[in-house]
Amino acid sequence: MKAIQLTAPSLDAFRRAELPDPAPAAGQVLVRMRAATLNYLDVAIATGNFPAPAFPLVPVADGAGEIAALGEGVSGWAVGERVIPHFMPNWQGGGITPHNVAAMRGLSLPGSLAEYVAVPASSLAALPAHLDYVHGAALPIAATTAWNAVRAAQLRPGSVVLLLGTGGVSIFALQFAKASGATVILASSSEAKLERAGQLGADHLINYRATPAWDEAVLKLTGGRGADLVVETAGAATLARSLNAAAMGGTVFTVGFVAGTAASIDLLPIIVKALRVVGNNTGSVADLAEAARAVAAHKIVPAIDRVYDIGETAAAYAELAAGGRHFGKLAIAH
Ligand SMILES: NC(=O)c1ccc[n+]([C@@H]2O[C@H](COP(=O)([O-])OP(=O)(O)OC[C@H]3O[C@@H](n4cnc5c(N)ncnc54)[C@H](OP(=O)(O)O)[C@@H]3O)[C@@H](O)[C@H]2O)c1
Repeated sequence: MKAIQLTAPSLDAFRRAELPDPAPAAGQVLVRMRAATLNYLDVAIATGNFPAPAFPLVPVADGAGEIAALGEGVSGWAVGERVIPHFMPNWQGGGITPHNVAAMRGLSLPGSLAEYVAVPASSLAALPAHLDYVHGAALPIAATTAWNAVRAAQLRPGSVVLLLGTGGVSIFALQFAKASGATVILASSSEAKLERAGQLGADHLINYRATPAWDEAVLKLTGGRGADLVVETAGAATLARSLNAAAMGGTVFTVGFVAGTAASIDLLPIIVKALRVVGNNTGSVADLAEAARAVAAHKIVPAIDRVYDIGETAAAYAELAAGGRHFGKLAIAH
């Protein structure tokens, strides 16, 4: 089969390869992959900022395709069904454990830039009927994470959500938050992106370059109350302001590190406001399946900024690595 391999932790180290067709073992299905989408994690692996056990590897955690064959003992799935393989196949449901996060597609397991991949049937979610492969491929990491954020904060009509930036996680969080009846405040570096976020339903828009004290702007917009949920997708550079922008008893859902990992923070806002600072490591197959059901129920269409051909893999990675140019997700079709 045809595949792309990443031969070293470098954005210049992609090569086309001819690899043996995988065969589905007992309990596995063979998926003909049709599309992939990039996450910051993929770039971190390709730049040596997230250690990979070995090179070469077939990159990209997230993808979607159709079932081409069933391994022995697989029931509940049929050849031809459109599916999304989760990127951490060990994690079926329940809480995080070392075993659950030990294996990741596009890292220790073959990723989505190959014609075929054999994955456990138990790691599949059904691709929502209203989505094509490219849009379905956006779900595993970004939608699961955004879904876990809105669930952690138990959003309801009238809740206030603060989102940072317009990357994949933030835009899914915007779509889920609006589906929950929440009011969304979104901060971005770009007026054009703010306009697109407004078209997707964001209620209040803040340019964090023009308004560096965006936390104070959030407090002002909410009459001093703050946000019930802050989805912290940026990291060290924004955490202190996120804590300041949070409402009493609010949830600061801490997932991102595009703006650094090492932060020195004042504990007082956490203590005085009894904040819930919740870490998250994507989520389980069950979380993905729930997110996909919510996407199907609300006919949510993931924001895909651009679709690259598989031969343009290096360009797609370079675009994500450049940071701040895309809106939502970058996809690779094959
Ligand atoms: N722990 C988990 O469960 C989990 C799961 C998924 C992703 N993540 C992490 O979460 C982060 C976001 O993921 P993603 O896929 O959404 O990334 P992405 O698509 O690359 O988007 C990142 C966005 O962050 C915004 N940003 C950058 N610096 C900022 C700052 N100082 N203040 C506010 N916004 C800023 C930019 O938005 P604008 O261009 O609009 O300014 C940028 O587009 C990444 O670090 C990723 O690794 C973690």
